[in-house]
Amino acid sequence: MEVVIQQGPAEIARIAADAIGALLEAKPTAVLGLATGSSPVAVYDELAARCNAGSISFRQARGFTLDEYVGLPADHPERYRNVIDTAFVSRVDFADGAVQGPDGLAADIPAACAAYEDAIRDAGGIDLQILGIGADGHIAFNEPGSSLASRTRIKTLTMQTRTDNARFFGGDVEQVPTHCLTQGLATIMGARHVILAALGSGKAEAVHHLVEGAVSAMWPATILQHHPHVTVLLDDAAAGRLQLVDYYRETYRGKPHWQGI
Ligand code: F6R
Repeated sequence: MEVVIQQGPAEIARIAADAIGALLEAKPTAVLGLATGSSPVAVYDELAARCNAGSISFRQARGFTLDEYVGLPADHPERYRNVIDTAFVSRVDFADGAVQGPDGLAADIPAACAAYEDAIRDAGGIDLQILGIGADGHIAFNEPGSSLASRTRIKTLTMQTRTDNARFFGGDVEQVPTHCLTQGLATIMGARHVILAALGSGKAEAVHHLVEGAVSAMWPATILQHHPHVTVLLDDAAAGRLQLVDYYRETYRGKPHWQGI
């Protein structure tokens, strides 16, 4: 697991966009895993700017979102399918239908989850997964207690996550759905490269567990310690509780440029 500590979202966005650009250069048909939420916003802004400038193209690429609320109407602005369209997909040159997400309106939820797993597998798996992390250590919507071997399924959101996300629902936690469909931890572990971005002191405890804690279902993101290629991009505040912070800084400073992340 590589830990890269930067001043803020703009620096983090440049590093992530360089890696995504290099991937698309080598493999224009790459499959990207797309997180919603605030953490990747600067990355999507940077990618949109590069796409508009003609230095990166998603024309042949595909995308899979991580998760979806259950039951939000198709035109609801907070439905993750709509959020990712607004934040990213509509701003770059993906082909129509190239990005998909779990169907939170499916009549048969288990069948929809199985179909999503099949779609990822049929696309050849995810080459690069962009992730955020919740204050309670969730990735996608794998809340504490999630099976470390889980695959796409329905989950109940914790009150902590619903409270955190109430800011997107006019501050009213009652408007935040209680259930979601989410890629499982094993699904995420199948991605070939994972880039996780975390910003702000509210993420410091979760980041401490992710990087330096014991692997445990209580901090679901810790499963990533078993992944061979994870890059954790942090601002100073999110790195605030890391024990080996000086080592991580020194390692990145001394890294040969050609190595990328
Ligand atoms: C979003 C997702 C969540 C978020 C996490 C952090 O698709 O899967 O795991 O990444 O809740 O959210 P932000 O980035 O808003 O702090």
